[in-house]
Amino acid sequence: MKIPKTAPLIVLTGAGISAGSGLATFRGSGGLWAGYDINEVATPEGFQRDPELVHDFYNMRRHESAAALPNAAHRALAALEDAWEGPFLLVTQNVDDLHEKAGSRRLIHMHGRLNSVLCTACGKRSEWHEDTGSQIPCPHCGQPALRPDIVWFGEMPYHMEEIGAALENAGLFLSIGTSGTVYPAAGFVAYAKEQGAETVEINLENTHNPLFDRHVSGDAAATLPAFVESLLRSRSGNGSSI
Ligand code: OAD
Repeated sequence: MKIPKTAPLIVLTGAGISAGSGLATFRGSGGLWAGYDINEVATPEGFQRDPELVHDFYNMRRHESAAALPNAAHRALAALEDAWEGPFLLVTQNVDDLHEKAGSRRLIHMHGRLNSVLCTACGKRSEWHEDTGSQIPCPHCGQPALRPDIVWFGEMPYHMEEIGAALENAGLFLSIGTSGTVYPAAGFVAYAKEQGAETVEINLENTHNPLFDRHVSGDAAATLPAFVESLLRSRSGNGSSI
């Protein structure tokens, strides 16, 4: 396939890109949802029932994320952003900060971030790198009403308008390390394809989703650097062959 070097490029990432950095994915054996009940730790109702359990779950995730380092796949995406001549947007479902640590800048965390808290009393966000708990006061209003700034099941992901506008113009859509089971992110490939984008999936396993024009199978940390290199290689010509 030939991608013009100035084509708008949208990248969607999921937990699989951080697997190579030692962070657990959600689904499958050994995934987070095998050990925890989604309804208990990832819904507004679960938080209402037992806030400390939910704070503790995300405190653990924050500790693991703080100790993790970006891998070659995160770094390849930061290099791609630097080299790409057209519009570029990286949308991640991940709540870790490994894309930032690798140097990505045009980045949307559609499911929130571990390093942010949201006050349910005043609605303000605060950058946060410590443990959270139900007795900790909000730095803005002083109320002990902080929650993890994570989008839970039943809540609307962040920045959907900006993401929708980017997908409308996408020339190339890359989906990396996501099972494609959680909407609305799972619907991005159909939308991008409808708008005429070329679509590529990079995943440990071939999902055989027919909406992707191409599947690159294997560990993203091993396959993505070579994929990015081949995408950029022919940029001196009329387009990039991938
Ligand atoms: P999943 O755990 O559902 O899927 C991870 C995907 O990554 C699977 O398709 C794996 O095959 C793939 N994978 C695993 N290791 C990989 C590797 N080394 N290289 C490449 N691919 C690899 O995670 P997500 O799709 O990110 O939402 O899950 C989506 C959302 O569901 C998450 O953001 C989270 C979760 O519930 C919320 O918590 C709101």
